[in-house]
Amino acid sequence: MAAEEEGLTGPGETRPAPGPGPGGEPAPAAPRSVPELMLGRPPMARPLPTFDAEAAPAEPGPLFVDWLATALHAGVPDPQVFTLSTVDADGLPDARVLVLRDVDAAGTGWVFSTAADSPKGRQLADHPAAALTVYWPQLGRQVRVRGTVERAADQVAGAEFATRSPAARIGALVGRQSEPLASPAEYEEAVAVARRRLEATPDAVAAGHAVYTLWAHEVEFWQGDAERHHVRLRYTRTGPVRTPEWSRTLLWP
Ligand SMILES: Cc1cc2nc3c(=O)[nH]c(=O)nc-3n(C[C@H](O)[C@H](O)[C@H](O)COP(=O)(O)O)c2cc1C
Repeated sequence: MAAEEEGLTGPGETRPAPGPGPGGEPAPAAPRSVPELMLGRPPMARPLPTFDAEAAPAEPGPLFVDWLATALHAGVPDPQVFTLSTVDADGLPDARVLVLRDVDAAGTGWVFSTAADSPKGRQLADHPAAALTVYWPQLGRQVRVRGTVERAADQVAGAEFATRSPAARIGALVGRQSEPLASPAEYEEAVAVARRRLEATPDAVAAGHAVYTLWAHEVEFWQGDAERHHVRLRYTRTGPVRTPEWSRTLLWP
């Protein structure tokens, strides 16, 4: 049975057949299930940094930026990419990956941008709360942020739009994020139209382009350990959003 028929590869993808080993011995059978694929591969089985939670700063923002910089220097690919979780009108959770644009100076607001008329934009309009999760595998570090979400003024979104690459601006000008697409050709046509529009009006801003800030209510730093002596530190905001105070709590792993 072909790998694709077994559901182990996607349509159009092929997996190379296992060939004989260097000595001509038969190659091991290809793994057939998730447990088999993952056998002998426990997560975080590598040297990891330590985290002295008791010496952590009073606020989560500087610690997040410090961990992000460490991830960057450790060669984590795309360390600024995070998962944003929202809930839809039925209370069903939804999640997708986005790019982190900034952490505000007070270290309380995590900034991202997207289309306000996308599913996530509509979910945030209905229910302005979200969770952000990031995992940096090379360091065995996870950060979780929960809080309320605020959409910035259009002027802020316009200024942010101008900082984006032409390709990103064209993509946003195309719009219709997550709508059903009739064919790849339909998309290519829309891209060509958006490209011509950007050439004619370089300061064009995509309708509905929006910048959001996730104002943290809780931020948790999680340092993994191969022996499961994970270290967890949770910050909980006690003061107002823009002039926060934080309490710190160690958590059982
Ligand atoms: C690495 C990566 C970065 C992404 N960054 C963004 C982003 O910054 N903004 C955005 O709207 N979508 C981004 N996306 C696409 C989203 O994951 C998602 O497909 C899209 O926003 C539609 O989500 P929605 O249907 O929940 O609204 C990114 C995807 C990946 C894989």
